[in-house]
Amino acid sequence: MALNLHALIRQKRLLLVGGKGGVGKTTLSAALAAHAAQHDRRVLLVSTDPAHSLADAFGRSIGNQPVTVAPNLSVLEIDPDTEVDAYLDRVLAQMRRYAGPDQIHELQRHLRLSSQSPGAQEAALLERLARLMHEGLEEYDLLVFDTAPTGHTLRLLSLPEVMAAWTDGLLRHNKRSEHLGSVLSHLTPSRSVDALTGDPKKHELENLDERSQQLAQTLLDRQRLFHQTRHLLADHDRTGFLFVLTPERLPILETHRAVQSLTDSGIPVSGAVVNRVLPPTTDDDFWAARRERQQKHLDEITQQLGHIPLAYITLQQDDIEGLDALQAFGQQLVRPLSTP
Ligand SMILES: Nc1ncnc2c1ncn2[C@@H]1O[C@H](COP(=O)(O)OP(=O)(O)O)[C@@H](O)[C@H]1O
Ligand SMILES: [Mg+2]
Repeated sequence: MALNLHALIRQKRLLLVGGKGGVGKTTLSAALAAHAAQHDRRVLLVSTDPAHSLADAFGRSIGNQPVTVAPNLSVLEIDPDTEVDAYLDRVLAQMRRYAGPDQIHELQRHLRLSSQSPGAQEAALLERLARLMHEGLEEYDLLVFDTAPTGHTLRLLSLPEVMAAWTDGLLRHNKRSEHLGSVLSHLTPSRSVDALTGDPKKHELENLDERSQQLAQTLLDRQRLFHQTRHLLADHDRTGFLFVLTPERLPILETHRAVQSLTDSGIPVSGAVVNRVLPPTTDDDFWAARRERQQKHLDEITQQLGHIPLAYITLQQDDIEGLDALQAFGQQLVRPLSTP
């Protein structure tokens, strides 16, 4: 089944691009985003890979907030360390209102320590992503996420469910607790950037004092955000996960596993792009041998991944750097080889 990337960028609202390190995720995400922008879609391209390379791909510096790199195309790179710092600052600011001056020092120490934990990093990252997705959909036609290598992304995608379930439990458990405030304040970031609307579940909060109500409300907003994120990620009409792999043993194995895992969690898999396919060669023995080896892997891909749509992209002579190169590569992407 051939993967139609042009149709994909016209139809979807959220595309997540994943795969092993070095297979071409950033290049493909950037080229697809550039192509979509040239076809009048307003596009936001987001990198969530700590090994930032959108800046390299576009040949210009890119930061934590969207910058316009071409008409209709905005780009940003999320830095997990920056996110976790900002997140903990918000938590601290909130706790300051309730803790005595003598406690603040201890709190700061505690927060500094927890900033090193993977849990804090993921929570901060997930929250930023969830907000970007929801706010982004209002402002842009298409969001393209250039994600971190597969394992990390899979974990992050399963988090909205976990986080929502966790806040559900917490709220039920603490609804009437006097200590709600102190417990919840550890978990609730600021609402200042929350663009979501909706009806607060006031009736559930009536038994609490005012301070606890405020905190519970913040938590409820957050819970709703994660529920919505989960819903968006599982929405076949709007969302698609795109794998990138090279015709090599490990990327094939990993992609096969990841396709299964996403399918099991109900996240729609749009297809896979097989990148760096060697062009046919005739006379050179070395390249003929490489081609032959690669053909085995391509056969393996048909076997292992034949049930999802596939596109094939040839290895280019040069690295793909700068807007012009990305746009040209985008042209090739949407007319991929039907057979390698
Ligand atoms: N089809 C291709 N032909 C030639 N070079 C490619 C191709 N796809 C990607 N590259 C180059 O390979 C390098 C790594 O690609 P990148 O997109 O950064 O991988 P990832 O984001 O998966 O780590 C980049 O320098 C990129 O320009
Ligand atoms: Mg990358």
